[in-house]
Amino acid sequence: MTAILGISAFYHDSAAALVIDGEIVAAAQEERFTRKKHDFRFPQQAVDYCLEEAGLDPEDLDFVGFYDKSLTKFERLLETYLAFAPAGYASFRRAMPLWLKQKLHLPREMSHGLHERYPGRFVFTDHHESHAASAFFASPFDEAAILTLDGVGEWSTTCYGVGRGNKLELTHELRFPHSLGLLYSAFTYYIGFRVNSGEYKVMGLAPYGKPIFRKRILDNLMDLKADGSFRMDMSYFNFCQGLTMTSRKFDKLFGGPPGKPESQVGQREMDLAASVQSVTEEIMLRMANHLQEKTGMKHLVLAGGVALNCVGNGRILREGPFEKLWIQPAAGDAGGALGTALFIWHQLLDRPRNPQGKDKQKGSLLGPQFDDDQILKTLSEHEAVFSSCDSDDELCEQIADLIAQEKVIGWFQGRMEFGPRALGARSILGDARSTKMQSVMNLKIKFRESFRPFAPIVLQEYVDHYFEMRPYEESPYMLLVAPVRKEIRRQLGSDYDGSFGIDKLNYCRSSIPAVTHVDYSARVQTVDKDRNPLLHLLMTRFHEKTGCPVLINTSFNVRSEPIVCSPEDAYRCFMMTDMDVLVLGRHVLLKEEQEKQLSDVDRQEHLAQFKLD
Ligand SMILES: [Fe+2]
Repeated sequence: MTAILGISAFYHDSAAALVIDGEIVAAAQEERFTRKKHDFRFPQQAVDYCLEEAGLDPEDLDFVGFYDKSLTKFERLLETYLAFAPAGYASFRRAMPLWLKQKLHLPREMSHGLHERYPGRFVFTDHHESHAASAFFASPFDEAAILTLDGVGEWSTTCYGVGRGNKLELTHELRFPHSLGLLYSAFTYYIGFRVNSGEYKVMGLAPYGKPIFRKRILDNLMDLKADGSFRMDMSYFNFCQGLTMTSRKFDKLFGGPPGKPESQVGQREMDLAASVQSVTEEIMLRMANHLQEKTGMKHLVLAGGVALNCVGNGRILREGPFEKLWIQPAAGDAGGALGTALFIWHQLLDRPRNPQGKDKQKGSLLGPQFDDDQILKTLSEHEAVFSSCDSDDELCEQIADLIAQEKVIGWFQGRMEFGPRALGARSILGDARSTKMQSVMNLKIKFRESFRPFAPIVLQEYVDHYFEMRPYEESPYMLLVAPVRKEIRRQLGSDYDGSFGIDKLNYCRSSIPAVTHVDYSARVQTVDKDRNPLLHLLMTRFHEKTGCPVLINTSFNVRSEPIVCSPEDAYRCFMMTDMDVLVLGRHVLLKEEQEKQLSDVDRQEHLAQFKLD
């Protein structure tokens, strides 16, 4: 037996992953345990969990990998500082303490994290090789083109190459500071959202706007080539030398200073979002076309933070030259932990790889699960009122009825997801047909702005009835946006013309309005029997009752809270929000039956911990 632990840490989204004889046994992000979103500290609890899941001690590990080469990264930091010195001293000084304390002493930090009980050596893999390995080695393809799209690793910001069998090779790169991820983050910052977490909001905002600044971006900020490579004019940016993303020249070009966090979003912000999104899609498509031409591959795999841009992914799938696409669900740096472990197994140890139609990600259900005893203990500690079902059938029958009555359901089942999306293990579910569900979920459950659409889950068998995807086309990890089919779209009423901005979302656009964005797009997750049998059963019951094979699936948390991990987290989130029903395994809690209710003050205190992104 060969056990390999992968670790990513000290940038954002720390995580650990365990690969035993090539099989992904466990993977989890540290934020889920510490309850601190994007926690970047050493993933102590994630490491401990991975070992516990397999019943291993640190001594049993054969290799421990780290997802990037910190010394090279440090070199970049120094060189960038020196190139701009004395400008940039403030940001340099800010970055130094963490480097001097931890990042330059990784073996020491990791030994410590393994309780000084791991006798072996540490392996450091390249940042983009880690991303690439997480995409290709976990994919269902025997060979594929590989594209990693990121903010920045050591020096590379984008890499491409080819994977064949048990080997991958990255042959081309774009180098810092020219970075699609950092361009997107610059606009995220400029619009007034938080960098490294608000990027998703920019993507959600884009359909409200018109890309009127697209030409301005392409004419001024960058020189974009036909092959998708580009150079950015750094006089518009400040991330090399300053504490901000954009420079005064940038502000001048777009007509004003950056937006303030939590301020009102207006048409200008929407147009900015639409513009940077449009440029991003253009670059992604050009890169995909070029890559296919160069490699002749039929399949493409993607990873890196930008690969979470599921609108861009959807366009690559529909308009690009590849037959199939697979995207690592933990595309951001958390996935680097998995990548480094798989890289060691296949690339360095030369172990064979036999993809057989299915990917190796196991539905990305790779985190901790809690048995009945643990769930019942939590429920009794809180004196919760609940009923229990004897079978999955009975449970799904009951919950399908409640969903059809427009109840909002907290759904906690089995192993926790690895990656930023809730895929039906730690999810909030609701009726996608309901016209009020979109605003109810946003305002009373998530406590956030209502412009963000919810994602649909659809029974795999019916995906092409509702979305413009090929029959049986899979999107098990919610990483593709597809148009809602014309057949289920609804004519907007005559009162629509006067509406503006976010109000647009309040108009019913299809037979599943709660998951249809203003441009008739939807971020689709397909649910199949193999990966998620219980959710598949629930949706089948709902479909039998209502004729609708689609539900809303959103992550089980409030705004900017890490997704719940334990029954305790789930119970707390249930009680703090207006969620109607909580399902923990086969146990069902109805909010109206709870004797212990929380005061508004308690709720406000809880919510205050979680700021908007
Ligand atoms: Fe990365």
